[in-house]
Amino acid sequence: MTRYEAVTGPHSPSGADNPPRPSTPRTATSGMPVVAMIGGGQLARMTHQAAIALGQTLRVLSAGSDEPAAQVSADVVLGHHDDLNALRTVATGSNAVTFDHEHVPTEHLETLVAEGVNVQPPPSALIFAQDKLRMRRKLAELGIPIPDFAEVTWVGDVTKFGDDHGWPVVVKSIRGGYDGRGVWMPNDADEAEDIVRRELDRGVPLMVEEKVDLRRELSAMVGRSPFGQGAAWPVVETVQRDGQCAVVIAPAPALDEDTAIDAERMALSLAAELGVVGSMAVELFETNDGRILVNELAMRPHNSGHWTMDGCRTSQFEQHLRAVLDYPLGDTTPLAPVTVMANILGAAEAPTMSMDERLHHLFARMPDAKVHLYGKGERKDRKIGHVNVLGGAGSSADGAYVAAVREKAERAAHWMSHAEWTDGWDPHA
Ligand SMILES: Nc1ncnc2c1ncn2[C@@H]1O[C@H](COP(=O)(O)OP(=O)(O)OP(=O)(O)O)[C@@H](O)[C@H]1O
Ligand SMILES: [Mg+2]
Repeated sequence: MTRYEAVTGPHSPSGADNPPRPSTPRTATSGMPVVAMIGGGQLARMTHQAAIALGQTLRVLSAGSDEPAAQVSADVVLGHHDDLNALRTVATGSNAVTFDHEHVPTEHLETLVAEGVNVQPPPSALIFAQDKLRMRRKLAELGIPIPDFAEVTWVGDVTKFGDDHGWPVVVKSIRGGYDGRGVWMPNDADEAEDIVRRELDRGVPLMVEEKVDLRRELSAMVGRSPFGQGAAWPVVETVQRDGQCAVVIAPAPALDEDTAIDAERMALSLAAELGVVGSMAVELFETNDGRILVNELAMRPHNSGHWTMDGCRTSQFEQHLRAVLDYPLGDTTPLAPVTVMANILGAAEAPTMSMDERLHHLFARMPDAKVHLYGKGERKDRKIGHVNVLGGAGSSADGAYVAAVREKAERAAHWMSHAEWTDGWDPHA
C-alpha cells in the first residue's frame, strides 16, 4: 500500500520520526483516471468500491489511516481538508477532485480552480450545499418552494420570527451541520435565547426557519455531468430518528405519480441551474397539506441513495464517478419493485458478540440481505454500516408488501447493531 502525506500545514502528520515525503503523488500507470476525493469516510469507501470496477484509482485525502476509505484505498494522502497544501497534494496528477462531505473551505477550492484543478462539483455550485442560508436564498430566487426562513444575527431575530410564525421554530447552523448536529427546535423564546446566545458566542452563524408540519420526508436524487446529461433515480422516502436518517424506502410508497415526476424534474433542473456535477440529493419535506418543500441539497453521494448499490442498475457511487469524469451517465432503473435500506447504528454499548459473529447469524437467517460495513468502531448512534433488502421480482408494491420488506431490513440492521432479534428469534430453539 502506498500512502502520501501532505508535507506542510498544521495538520500534517510529519515530525522528527516521520520526515516529509515527496509531495508528488503517484499517478495511475494504467492510463485510467485518478479521482481525488476529499474525506475518508464511508462515502469515499463506497466510491472506491465503484472505482475498482471502472478501472480507476480513487485517491483519498483522509485525516487518519484508520478512516473507512483510508483502510481500503491504495492511494491515501494523510492530511486535513482545511489545509490548502494537503488539498494541493491530493489534487496533483488527478483527473478530478471531489468530496465525501461539504466542509472544505470554499476559498481553498477557488484557489485550486484558479490553479487549474478540475474541482467537481465546482465551488460555485457546492456553495449551495455548504451554506444553508445561501442555499435558501438561491432557492427562493429560483421560485422553488421552501420553508419560511430568516438570518439570525442576534437573539431578537429568533424571538421575532417565532412570534410571527408560531413556536416551535427550527434554528440551524448555516455551515458544518450533519446528521441533525447543528439543528435545534426551541419551543419558546426562553429556550431559543439559550441556544442562540450559546451558539453565537461560539462563533456559529445561524439561521431560523418555520417548523414544517411534516407528513414525511422524501429525497430526489439525480446525477449530472459537465456535458449536461442528467439522470434521476426514483424519489424515495427517508425516515429520520433523532434528526438522523434511519431507513430509506425506494420508491416512496404511495407517492402520487405526478408529484414524483415533478420532484424528479425539479431536482434535474436545479442541478442544471446551479451547475452541479456528480450525484446530488435534494432532501424534501412532504407537508400534511400535500405540498413539497425543499429542505437541503447534498452534492455528493448521500445516505438516501445507499439503496442504489443493490437496488439499481447504476449506483449513486458509480454515477458520481461517471459524472465527475464526464462519462455518459448510467441507467438508473430499479431492479426490484421495492428496496429498503436500513442504517446500522452503533449501540450505546457494543454487544459482546463480535460483529463477525453477528454477520454469520444474519447471513444464516437472511441469505438475501445485502450488508455494507464501513470499518468503523461502534459508538452510540454512529453510522457503521447499512443493510439493503430487495422485494422479490414480480411482487406488487402494495402497502403490506412494502411494510414486510421494511420490517426485514430494519430487523437485520437492529440485529447488526445490538445482537438482538426484534421478534425474539432464537437460532438454537
Ligand atoms: N424546518 C423544519 N421543519 C421540520 N423539521 C425539520 C426542519 N428542518 C429540519 N428538520 C428535521 O431535522 C432533520 C435534519 O435537518 P437538516 O437536514 O437541515 O440538517 P442536517 O444535519 O444537515 O442533516 P443531514 O443529516 O441531512 O446532514 C431533517 O431531516 C428533519 O427531520
Ligand atoms: Mg438533511
